[in-house]
Amino acid sequence: MDKLVVKKSLGLNGEIRISGAKNAVLPIVCAGILTAETLNLTNVPHLKDIDTLGELLRLMGIDVSLNNGNMLITANKVTSLMAPYELVKQMRASILVLGPLLGRFGEAIVSLPGGCAIGARPVDVHLKGLEQMGAHIEIENGYIKAKVDRLKGARIIMDVVTVTGTENLLMAAVLADGVTVLENCAREPEVVDLANCLVKMGAQIEGIGSDTLTITGVDKLHGATHAIIADRIEAGTYAVAAVMTQGDLTLTNVRPDVMGAVIEKLRLAGANVIVGDTTLQVIMHKRALAVDITTQPYPGFPTDMQAQFMALNCIADGTSVMSENIFENRYMHVPELCRMGADISVDGNIAVVKGCDSLTGANVMATDLRASASLVLAGLVASSSTTVDRVYHLDRGYESMEDKLGKVGANIKRITY
Ligand code: EPZ
Repeated sequence: MDKLVVKKSLGLNGEIRISGAKNAVLPIVCAGILTAETLNLTNVPHLKDIDTLGELLRLMGIDVSLNNGNMLITANKVTSLMAPYELVKQMRASILVLGPLLGRFGEAIVSLPGGCAIGARPVDVHLKGLEQMGAHIEIENGYIKAKVDRLKGARIIMDVVTVTGTENLLMAAVLADGVTVLENCAREPEVVDLANCLVKMGAQIEGIGSDTLTITGVDKLHGATHAIIADRIEAGTYAVAAVMTQGDLTLTNVRPDVMGAVIEKLRLAGANVIVGDTTLQVIMHKRALAVDITTQPYPGFPTDMQAQFMALNCIADGTSVMSENIFENRYMHVPELCRMGADISVDGNIAVVKGCDSLTGANVMATDLRASASLVLAGLVASSSTTVDRVYHLDRGYESMEDKLGKVGANIKRITY
């Protein structure tokens, strides 16, 4: 097990290179299942979740290699159509093999992803859409057992805006017989990145970036080379670090054009944000102002940035109201921040944060990926040392956070025990 020891580190200064987006890599690696030719991905971060997905695909007989950010996936001798519980429980995004397996092979046995710390996270919309495309689906012993001769195009209106639901159904539709119209789609940049990669592989998709995707099924897809989009949540996390520590950070290899909602909130907090084509400079020389946050599907404010902005609000000037509208239990960081002296009260999906002058260090425990990031951010401004335990949550989604922050002046050490 690892923990991070974080000490007060004001005035972070320098450059951080942002990695490829975890939530784009995961669906795009699964898209490799759709062809027997090699899918060549660049700008792939080295993260635990990506290792886990690679392990799953290898179990299916798929060749997967990752060297220095370059990932090759070749599904030319698939030997198993099953995603076992042992791996799905580690990484619920494994559900993303379901659509491609059904689309190419007409069969899949995938463990139902259980809930997780942030909510029940059902996959009913994924399954309902696949049934509308003709799949026969049974749930048995905790597994989704799906079969179909060949998926058929259908008009599907998703009940909720779901990122992986949109991605699963999109990947199922590209090899289906006929035209599929997906309505009420998620428009996250990671969904767009998947669609763009599928088009490079020969898929026919219209409406990319909108809430309605029209997919004309083709018989086969071919290999392609694709560079993964930059991680807007990693970038947002380090931008918040610059604001909280009153520093000057330049983030490189960034897509500022997909960070509008976050940039607006950084500016409302009082930061000077300078936007380049692929850079974001965040300069702050005073105490942040409290900012109200309401999480929404893209292009609204991302739920994956809620915990980080809560850490900012904990030491901001004023009181903020935060509303988490995507997941039903995404405030696990609150009791940990309160142990550091934060003044936060939660009522349902609303959190009211009264900014304090300072926080005190404590031993805190991460419970999900972004909660752990918010505790590290709080540790950077706390008066004494903070130890963040269960750092494996962080490693799932942040490529060597302690190195990237250390290089710009943070006092942060990883301890293995
Ligand atoms: C994706 O999760 C991301 N994960 C999450 O990032 C992100 O927080 C989330 O989208 C929202 O943006 C990946 O892309 C791998 P949803 P996903 O389906 O697809 C409900 C991180 O920190 N819902 O968009 O699982 C669901 O319960 C992670 O990187 C149904 O009711 O989220 C939730 O309330 C955390 N039925 C809402 O929709 C369904 O069939 C949005 O969930 C599917 C979803």
